Amino acid sequence: MNQPVMEGLRLNVPAYVKHQQLITWVAEIAALTQARDVYWCDGSQAEYDRLCAQLVAAGTFKKLNPALRPNSFLACSDPSDVARVEDRTYICSAKKEDAGPTNNWMAPADMRELLQTGQKDGTPALFKGAMKGRTLYVVPFSMGPIGSPIAHIGVELSDSPYVAVNMRTMTRMGKAVLDVLGSDGVFVPCVHTVGAPLEAGQTDVKWPCNQTKYIVHYPETREIWSYGSGYGGNALLGKKCFALRIASTMGRDQGWLAEHMLILGVTSPERKKYHFAAAFPSACGKTNFSMLIPPAAFDGWKVTTIGDDIAWIKPAADGRLYAINPEAGYFGVAPGTNTLTNFNCMASLNKDVIFTNVALTDEGDVWWEGMTDTPPAHLIDWQGKDWTPAIAKETGAKAAHPNARFTVSAINNPALDAEWDNPAGVPIDAFIFGGRRSTTVPLVTEARNWVEGVYMAATMGSETTAAAAGQQGVVRRDPFAMLPFMGYNMADYFQHWLDMGKKLAALCATSGAKLPQIYCVNWFRKGADGKFVWPGYGENMRVLKWMLDRVEGSGQGEEHAFGVTPRYQDINWTGLNFTQEQFNITTHIDKAAWTTEMKLHDELFQQLAYHLPAELPATKAMIETRLAAE
Ligand code: OXD
Ligand code: MN
Repeated sequence: MNQPVMEGLRLNVPAYVKHQQLITWVAEIAALTQARDVYWCDGSQAEYDRLCAQLVAAGTFKKLNPALRPNSFLACSDPSDVARVEDRTYICSAKKEDAGPTNNWMAPADMRELLQTGQKDGTPALFKGAMKGRTLYVVPFSMGPIGSPIAHIGVELSDSPYVAVNMRTMTRMGKAVLDVLGSDGVFVPCVHTVGAPLEAGQTDVKWPCNQTKYIVHYPETREIWSYGSGYGGNALLGKKCFALRIASTMGRDQGWLAEHMLILGVTSPERKKYHFAAAFPSACGKTNFSMLIPPAAFDGWKVTTIGDDIAWIKPAADGRLYAINPEAGYFGVAPGTNTLTNFNCMASLNKDVIFTNVALTDEGDVWWEGMTDTPPAHLIDWQGKDWTPAIAKETGAKAAHPNARFTVSAINNPALDAEWDNPAGVPIDAFIFGGRRSTTVPLVTEARNWVEGVYMAATMGSETTAAAAGQQGVVRRDPFAMLPFMGYNMADYFQHWLDMGKKLAALCATSGAKLPQIYCVNWFRKGADGKFVWPGYGENMRVLKWMLDRVEGSGQGEEHAFGVTPRYQDINWTGLNFTQEQFNITTHIDKAAWTTEMKLHDELFQQLAYHLPAELPATKAMIETRLAAE
């Protein structure tokens, strides 16, 4: 099947590839991008090792000291390519309203001219010749267990070997996926280039990329095109582009949910198991929460990880929602992670890791801010410069970039849930929505019903973090923690959640199952001294336990304008010195702050007026009436 597509280029199709449409598409993209050659990834360990060695030879990877960090590597990106680029991310639906006001939009035909066919004024297409001098890697991947009825397949064509090796860890990748795809299976085509063609004789740089970037989704044809970045969610297209933006549109059409949520299991000492799905914006501690270790007072309780970033959730005939983690690895934020904040994560990182943009120690290991109390005396920072505590004090230079990441397989996680790979998923007992808010939002509030819960999630605000390029620490509305990841109109997505609630309620009425409870949390409230009041991390178990008591119908709380919040005495404080006063700071509802907050909800609803479900302004009116009466 080795067909030449242009002079000197062979497609190198392995004999096991039977899918003619896939081969034709690879040929088309190879011709468009003028790739030097084509390589089909089989997903084997030998291939991974070979590509990593090639990345070391190219200078992209530094092999870490095998005695300290076996089979692990450090990549440092171009300083201009360190985060997701939301302002360069497009949803190119046929109609602008279908992308909605929270997404960048361009007409599909115009975007195709820009990327694929060239413009009327003769400007060549960005993808034309973009892979010159580079290998095109064919990366077949499954989001979800291979062959599972819930899983979906994608194929990423990328000119980045860094992407190929990261995709092997983050997804189920390689030959087994093509075996399932057979001769006519459906896949989401994903095209990625770093946008740095090499002319003959031109030497490569360690981290090729382009100042121009486009992260483009065509929801109707379920295609992804990414240009100019080699970093994270811009380039590992199974993650945000497929598993959230494209999958959210699939979920809308097919009656399921694709969410920016971790999934965790909690097992009681009596061996009763519960499952939570929790949405937080990027870099707000989802990985930490999903690997939480309960405090000593919770002897016999266990928290296990199903996923740390994305959940695909489907209703079943029994009226329950079942969730799977479509990913197979973690692409987590390194700074702040240590054995106290996330012991399980640190243990996961002992071997077989790709680190990106952390610092290098003189012993050939890695370090980042917050890893140890005392930093090493000397480091090479993420930009390749000498770094010492004295330099940091003088210049403020960070050893690791604040959005530095690790890529590691889920199977490295000592707290991995036994069901994490179960194609049927796990039943969800409760949803948690949390933002990063230094003021206003209480530690935890239970919604009184599904619609109130949807309102809480829809109006969630959060302070921006380093996960995305742009200003940090600014409060923005981030509905369902999905603002950067929605593949269609946000108001239609709210409607989809409301419809899901109605559908589940009808099923529950016959099966006797209960709708999941919905909670809103805020771990990040600060005191007058500007410090976080709530200790967070493992102590979040205390809040989880209160939620479980509520799920079981035994937990007590106090009703207020927005829902139900525990009183001090409703939480188990054994082993933690947390005073009633401190608790009051985390739960206090400031009327003036909430009056301002409700105005921001109003602004959001004005922005999303097209198709906004009437239930949401109606819920707002009810909350305002309650607030006025308090
Ligand atoms: C991530 C993100 O990388 O949300 O998970 O930015
Ligand atoms: Mn995320």
